[in-house]
Amino acid sequence: MFSFNIDHKDPQSSARAGVIQTAHGEIQTPIFMPVGTAGTVKAVHQHELETEIKAQIILGNTYHLYLRPGIEILQQVGGLHKFNGWNHPILTDSGGYQVYSLGNTRKIKEEGVTFNSHIDGSPHFFSPERAIDIQRIIGADIIMAFDECTPYPCEYGYAKKSMEMTHRWLARCCERFDNTQGLYGYEQTLFPIVQGSTYTDLRIQSAEAIAAFNRPANAIGGLSVGEPAEDMYAMTELVCGVLPADKPRYLMGVGTPVNILESIALGIDMFDCVLPTRNARHGLLYTAEGILNMRNAKWKDDFSPIDANSPCHSSRFYSKAYLRHLIHSSEILGMQIATLQNLSFFLWLVTEARAHIQAGDFRAWKEMMVPKLETRL
Ligand code: GUN
Repeated sequence: MFSFNIDHKDPQSSARAGVIQTAHGEIQTPIFMPVGTAGTVKAVHQHELETEIKAQIILGNTYHLYLRPGIEILQQVGGLHKFNGWNHPILTDSGGYQVYSLGNTRKIKEEGVTFNSHIDGSPHFFSPERAIDIQRIIGADIIMAFDECTPYPCEYGYAKKSMEMTHRWLARCCERFDNTQGLYGYEQTLFPIVQGSTYTDLRIQSAEAIAAFNRPANAIGGLSVGEPAEDMYAMTELVCGVLPADKPRYLMGVGTPVNILESIALGIDMFDCVLPTRNARHGLLYTAEGILNMRNAKWKDDFSPIDANSPCHSSRFYSKAYLRHLIHSSEILGMQIATLQNLSFFLWLVTEARAHIQAGDFRAWKEMMVPKLETRL
């Protein structure tokens, strides 16, 4: 069922346009995946995700869904698609990244990771096998291997040991995945994750090891964790050169609109990031002309549309001054309008990128867009 077909390659970069097929429908790549940590893309109805944002796939987090509502409820209802009413593709992250962000309440051993819930402090244990079992129950179309995302900076010895453990954990994930089935009658696909911090030799080793598992797609983790953007691009380029060209490449946790365009040029097909949703709730808006801080007093009597060119109705309908007032007053509607703006913009950006790859002028379009995207309005 899972397949990836590349229909166009950009002649002047490594960008490609393709289609991923999953049990819950197709995904046109390159794609940005809105983050829905707890089974909801914060502040957005599924109907708006479909019609305004035009999301094709959303993310969920194993760690959060396991703690709340818990796997019993998700199994009882028949998986996350049934629970939240999103009848399109879903990807779940394995919990690796979330567990590590918990800081010193977690302990990493070869067998797995013990951690305390951020909700009530209760103790829990995730292993590669457990992460697969839970993601089987959540029922996402794409599930992620259980890995360790190393922090930045990371000492070479630690990065090497951690990467090697991530590879051994991947073997255990594959073993569990290949000996179990989806619970709800449709296929799930497991993506392995390349690690190796910012070390060239480790990144090459990891990409080679991950490619040898010969799974239908590959992901790159451990980036956008505080390293300079040049390091992130250098590692991405290096790893894309090793991972097979005919399989989707997913760059985890990336990034800004500029990061996304630069990484598409390096051969990345899939992205996710909390940036558009989290920043929206703090009043930071992304548009094709640049970034607006809606808390800024300069918008207080600007009655022009939030973004006259937005594909999203509310961004053309409401004014900047009104949105500034809502955000300033911590009104729920402000977060809703800002989130719609940012996500519809991120989806517009990857859709345009795809159209320019197909038209053969992606590189020129990217060079024209980058300075605009970095402008502070
Ligand atoms: N999200 C962002 N980076 C990572 C990573 O390295 N691993 C996982 N599992 N998720 C991520």
